[in-house]
Amino acid sequence: MEIVIVNDADTAGTVVADIFDHAVRSGARTLGLATGSSPLSVYRELARRHREEGLSFAGLQAFLLDEYVGLPDGHPESYAQVIRTELVNHLDLDSARVFSPNGTTGDPFGAAAAYDRAIAANGPVDVQLLGIGANGHIGFNEPTSSLTSRTRVKTLTEQTRIDNARFFESLDDVPRHVITQGLGTICDAGHLVMIATGEHKADAIAAAVEGPLAAVCPASVLQLHPHATVVVDEAAASKL
Ligand code: GLP
Repeated sequence: MEIVIVNDADTAGTVVADIFDHAVRSGARTLGLATGSSPLSVYRELARRHREEGLSFAGLQAFLLDEYVGLPDGHPESYAQVIRTELVNHLDLDSARVFSPNGTTGDPFGAAAAYDRAIAANGPVDVQLLGIGANGHIGFNEPTSSLTSRTRVKTLTEQTRIDNARFFESLDDVPRHVITQGLGTICDAGHLVMIATGEHKADAIAAAVEGPLAAVCPASVLQLHPHATVVVDEAAASKL
């Protein structure tokens, strides 16, 4: 695993944008996208490079890590909508080729399996962006997720719902269920790139990078991957 420690959050965003920029210019076909606040500096920088430097995403496709179950299509906090607002609308990436699990169907279990099959059939993901939850989750693979899990329905921990309540009017509005790529699905990507900034991520980063490989810290699965890069600012690296 490669650990890159930089001074601040903006620089972390630039370093990760460099990795995506290089992948795109080198012929990557499929990007793996993530939501949450951590990737936003990356997305801002990629949008700037598209606008000012002609970085083109035409012809690429992208798969999102996860989605809430039960939010209606177009809900501002559904991850499909968030990724449009934060990234896709600012690039020349064809929005019809940006895929996410279908959280609106009456059969989320079938939707999860179909999404896993779609990634396997149309992938692999060349470069996958990842954030990390304060409890070490990636995507929505909460602690004790199988390290070889595939895309499936998961129940959020109370802590994750509280952490994500800031995006909703109240805690009651945060869905309880999600569809997430499994840890095994995520590890099928060619290059995993994690970004974490701020002191509140320091324990999770220490457990993921230096702790044992263990389902209680889902992000520790990066230790198994042949090409994983973790980009952190000094605050998130403070317990390494
Ligand atoms: C959510 C997302 C994860 C993300 C995590 C951390 O739970 N499903 O993909 O990594 O939040 O979010 P943030 O970057 O806002 O701290």
